[in-house]
Amino acid sequence: MRLLILGAGGFAKEVADVVLRTGHEIAGFYEEQPTRHDRPPQGAPVLHEIPVAGFDGIVVGVGDSALRRRFFEAFAGDHECPALVDPSAVVSRYASIGRGSLVMQGCAVSADATVGHNVLLNVGCYVAHDCSVGDHAHLAAAVMLGGGACVGAGALCGTSAVVLPGRRVGEWAVCGAGAVVTRDVPDGAVAQGVPARVVGMLGEE
Ligand SMILES: CC(C)(COP(=O)(O)OP(=O)(O)OC[C@H]1O[C@@H](n2cnc3c(N)ncnc32)[C@H](O)[C@@H]1OP(=O)(O)O)[C@@H](O)C(=O)NCCC(=O)NCCS
Repeated sequence: MRLLILGAGGFAKEVADVVLRTGHEIAGFYEEQPTRHDRPPQGAPVLHEIPVAGFDGIVVGVGDSALRRRFFEAFAGDHECPALVDPSAVVSRYASIGRGSLVMQGCAVSADATVGHNVLLNVGCYVAHDCSVGDHAHLAAAVMLGGGACVGAGALCGTSAVVLPGRRVGEWAVCGAGAVVTRDVPDGAVAQGVPARVVGMLGEE
């Protein structure tokens, strides 16, 4: 499949590698801002409008969960949007991975885990048995979810964060890099540290 990558920044370059490693081709990169990224990543064209032809599907190539959702909702209805699972990742046959989700190099997703649509599991994440990860959520590199943990839709777990078994990270919440979540994090909260403490709510100054 020739895939149009939505985004043309640094993360889009990483997504491009996964596109190629999963046997697809890169049709180009879509970048809304014509002023940025004039140098084409991986030699493919950077387009400022969605072309009418020349590609078979899309893949979201940005990390920000809100922008991921916006791209997905704008384009996934009309286009193929395959889940991409890097060949080095291990996904249980009893796990489910939603449409448009990215499972990058070295991830492991265990039995009865449920990964929603348009989820980003960055390099080296572990999603243990019976976990659930909501639509548009972003698990940064090396995030570890214990058995039965839940990450709500749109949430960000920063690099190397750990969510203890059975704990819940709320929808559109943020866990800082290196946080260890020992208690549930409410929807929209920002939590950081070891053990993780809520330090604010999104939208607050
Ligand atoms: C937790 C986080 C959201 C806070 O962001 P922020 O509000 O902009 O934080 P600031 O940089 O203004 O720092 C505020 C304070 O929190 C501390 N802090 C920031 N991030 C922290 C973290 N992950 N753990 C512990 N303390 C942290 C800072 O040292 C600073 O402390 P100080 O006031 O005593 O100096 C952010 O730092 C973070 O960890 N984001 C995740 C990044 C990530 O992994 N992205 C993955 C994709 S690249």
